[in-house]
Amino acid sequence: QEDKFKKVIAHAKEYGYIFGSSEIYDGLSAVYDYGQNGVELKKNIREYWWKSMVNMHQNIVGLDSAIFMHPTTWKASGHVDAFNDPLIDNKDSKKRYRADVLVEDFREKINQKIEKDITKAKKRFGDAFNEDEFRSTNANVVRRQKEIDRITVELTRVQEENDLAGFKQLIEDLGIGCPETGSKNWTDVRQFNLMFGTKLGASADSAMDLYLRPETAQGIFVNFLNVQKTGRMKIPFGIAQTGKAFRNEIVARQFIFRMREFEQMEMQFFVRPGEEMKWYDYWKETRLNWHLSLGLGKEKYRFHDHDKLAHYANAAADIEFDFPFGFKELEGIHSRTDFDLKAHEEYSGKKLQFFDPELKESYVPYVVETSVGLDRMFLAVFSSALQEEVLEDGSSRVVLKLPAVVAPIKAAILPLVKKDGLPEVAQQIVDDLKWKFNVIYDEKDAIGRRYRRQDANGTPFCITVDHDTLNDQTVTIRDRDTMEQKRVPIAELKSLISEKTDA
Ligand code: GAP
Repeated sequence: QEDKFKKVIAHAKEYGYIFGSSEIYDGLSAVYDYGQNGVELKKNIREYWWKSMVNMHQNIVGLDSAIFMHPTTWKASGHVDAFNDPLIDNKDSKKRYRADVLVEDFREKINQKIEKDITKAKKRFGDAFNEDEFRSTNANVVRRQKEIDRITVELTRVQEENDLAGFKQLIEDLGIGCPETGSKNWTDVRQFNLMFGTKLGASADSAMDLYLRPETAQGIFVNFLNVQKTGRMKIPFGIAQTGKAFRNEIVARQFIFRMREFEQMEMQFFVRPGEEMKWYDYWKETRLNWHLSLGLGKEKYRFHDHDKLAHYANAAADIEFDFPFGFKELEGIHSRTDFDLKAHEEYSGKKLQFFDPELKESYVPYVVETSVGLDRMFLAVFSSALQEEVLEDGSSRVVLKLPAVVAPIKAAILPLVKKDGLPEVAQQIVDDLKWKFNVIYDEKDAIGRRYRRQDANGTPFCITVDHDTLNDQTVTIRDRDTMEQKRVPIAELKSLISEKTDA
């Protein structure tokens, strides 16, 4: 799996999807740039989300609020006081870690030992192997599972009680050493706020301390009444937005999975108090179906219902995805109650209420939120699309089986040879298709190599212009996934490509 992940990162760079930020200066940790193909894939995923949320729901509208917000926003939202990670330093190596991640990694290592035991036993016992029985009877596995459960209980407790001394005690009890040097000489655990600070204004005394927003959601809350009034929205209704968010992540790793600058796609759905659980269930199902519609495979997703809830939530679940490093959070669905709107009412002194014409009363609506990381979506789509196939003739090919609807380039138009008027016909096809699709022209190298290049690039269709085209106005269209080629009239290309690539 580690090997697969390395291949994903290398492929993303080689084909112009993702570069490290400021690479010529040796990069910036956990900050990335999207290249010529990456920017298209990212835009297409964003549009696919936007269509399904805003265009498909008459009662959801969009918003694009500013990254800078009045600093009191973050007092009200709880981020100034509660958006912290527990940090610990190793006194010898001077390396800094998140205390919870140190414990989670330790627990994961024990889990990996269990998995290894199971794999070994599977080989040894063949068809007779029964995993459940093995898990409940093998002494090593039972002991390790008990240890995992003990760690989980204690980790949950120290997190819930924000018991920083308990955190350190747990790390010491488990004998966790510095992952790089093994040293067990730890400092105390302390809280570290994840928001990036900056200043608004030029002169030192008039400057105002600001934060870069750590979530896009608050821009929606503070505009709740603006949108409701001007859009004459009736509850239930939603406001959706996509945009950058910033978090000073301490453990920033796993490529674009955890970044310091990233993009969110969020929707706040405002509902009658008491009806939030109905909508929470509705959005859990609706959002899972959206993911499934991309066709990456049902087995890649699972729900994780939270026992431990954030300060603002009364129910929360993650949609987890099977990334190359295992199942991890892709999207969060949270029932946020009236926490945010009430807090903004209190801090701003302005009423943020809705007059419900049916109930004939005013209330602060409850909110169900769906929040998905665009970069994480990108990683989910990209990593599961990258495949190596052995073909019938024994050769192999690397193919990026991106869902056609989000693929950066929908078709490559290829003249078989660079003469006899074929390039001109191919160019004409490009000029016709480019109004509707992102298409490219490629005449370099032998046709087989050009096909392979487009396979690796994720282009769903290759259209080849040959000498017959000059006589009968037909071309071959090659499907990236099946590698099948069909002869079709040029006039049918638009509808053939649309069929597969339209949302
Ligand atoms: N408004 C709610 C909220 O922000 P969250 O669970 O903190 O909730 C929502 O974040 C989603 O944003 C996550 O499910 C994840 O996809 C994405 N996300 C969060 N932190 C991220 C990071 N450092 N890098 C990339 N994506 C991140």
